[in-house]
Amino acid sequence: KAGALWGGRFAGGPSPELARLSKSTHFDWQLAEYDLRGSKAHARALAAAGYLSDEELVAMVAGLDALEVAVAEGRFTPAESDEDVHSALERGLIDIIGTELGGKLRAGRSRNDQVATLVRMLLRDRSAAIADLLIDLIDALASQAEANEHAIMPGRTHLQHAQPVLLAHHLFAHCWPLVRDLERFADWNKRADFSPYGGGALAGSTLGLDARHIATELGFGGVVENSIDGTASRDLVAEFAYITAQIGIDLSRLAEEIILWNTKEFGFVTLDDAYSTGSSIMPQKKNPDIAELARGKSGRLIGNLTGLLTTLKGLPLAYNRDLQEDKEPVFDSIETLQVLMPAFTGMVATLTFHTDRMAELAPQGYSLATDVAEWLVKRHVTFRDAHEITGSLVKFAEERGLELHEVDDDALRSISEHLTPDVRDVLSIRGSVEGRDGQGGTSPVRVAEQRAALVARVRAL
Ligand code: ARG
Repeated sequence: KAGALWGGRFAGGPSPELARLSKSTHFDWQLAEYDLRGSKAHARALAAAGYLSDEELVAMVAGLDALEVAVAEGRFTPAESDEDVHSALERGLIDIIGTELGGKLRAGRSRNDQVATLVRMLLRDRSAAIADLLIDLIDALASQAEANEHAIMPGRTHLQHAQPVLLAHHLFAHCWPLVRDLERFADWNKRADFSPYGGGALAGSTLGLDARHIATELGFGGVVENSIDGTASRDLVAEFAYITAQIGIDLSRLAEEIILWNTKEFGFVTLDDAYSTGSSIMPQKKNPDIAELARGKSGRLIGNLTGLLTTLKGLPLAYNRDLQEDKEPVFDSIETLQVLMPAFTGMVATLTFHTDRMAELAPQGYSLATDVAEWLVKRHVTFRDAHEITGSLVKFAEERGLELHEVDDDALRSISEHLTPDVRDVLSIRGSVEGRDGQGGTSPVRVAEQRAALVARVRAL
């Protein structure tokens, strides 16, 4: 008989080519547990509206429970003839409770409202799992900041030495985007809190089923206001894919730095053996493969988002089969992060920072020049002149291969009358860092406050 869900109108079954194209069980099987929960809620709504007797409801829920166990234990799996997770589970239920009763469950719902609801349920669960992984990474970064509390590194702009900063300040700078990713999930969850169940194929149902009750049973705060929107929109799936892509990018930017820090030229970090790889030919090699995979996989996460948005572009309302293509990209993004993030966090947690090397490089490249200029401003030189004077000092030192503090008193005076020998007081990396105590700055006091603010923001979620 034709496709198990629509025999009546059809003379025969689908061609093997169509069946192969149409099939989605290899990826939508992930929705099985959510489908069964939805079916139980739907069965109760059918009973409440008088379409199932009390005994029928008990038998149906018992059948769904048994099927749930069989699915969880891997005893019930999709068959070659099943098109998707929904049709497979209907077949499984009928195997247990018979066609007479099993055939009643489908009244008043469609795979269109089902699948839209089930994907939301799955994504809400996965958002919580990824949020836990984000918190682990934030913890690892914060612990490194704490363990290297006094370390000073060269802060960079344009990848050039710019101004010295606390390593902790830099590490926290990688935490904040991750905190915002957590907040993005929390915010997304508010929009995802509405159930499309009961919308039917697109227009709603005539059977008077209590969609609100189903929504509550499935963990939603409410029901979507528009059954067409509920079945045809996928902006929430795309938004979820965006958050995963953004996480990928946040990881990738840190990964790039770790790759640089791990080079001979930087020498800022050593990777733990358990979180680095060797070379099959070069015995001396120890490679930052986790960081490189993170950088690489960010491309894949962006691709999943772009692919999904491209699928959605120009789709007329309401449901179109194109929408089946929403699942693989977003499921892949979830799986990618679930595999990547524990390894990435392990790598970060086990990094050894070479703080002597960082401190040695921090003042190089005339990174204290801004401190000189600001010292002059405090002596009421206009910043325009201060910039000019400091620039001349840098040029003088550079031409002679000197560091700023090595320029002697006479030379200082010849560059500008304002450059008195006590300018050398600001020519220390520690003094420079401690002096940057404006809100959000790198001074140790501000960084300690920042740490507390970060903890509070995560707790507030
Ligand atoms: N498997 C489909 C999906 O994932 C749901 C089934 C809807 N099919 C249909 N012909 N209306 O979107």
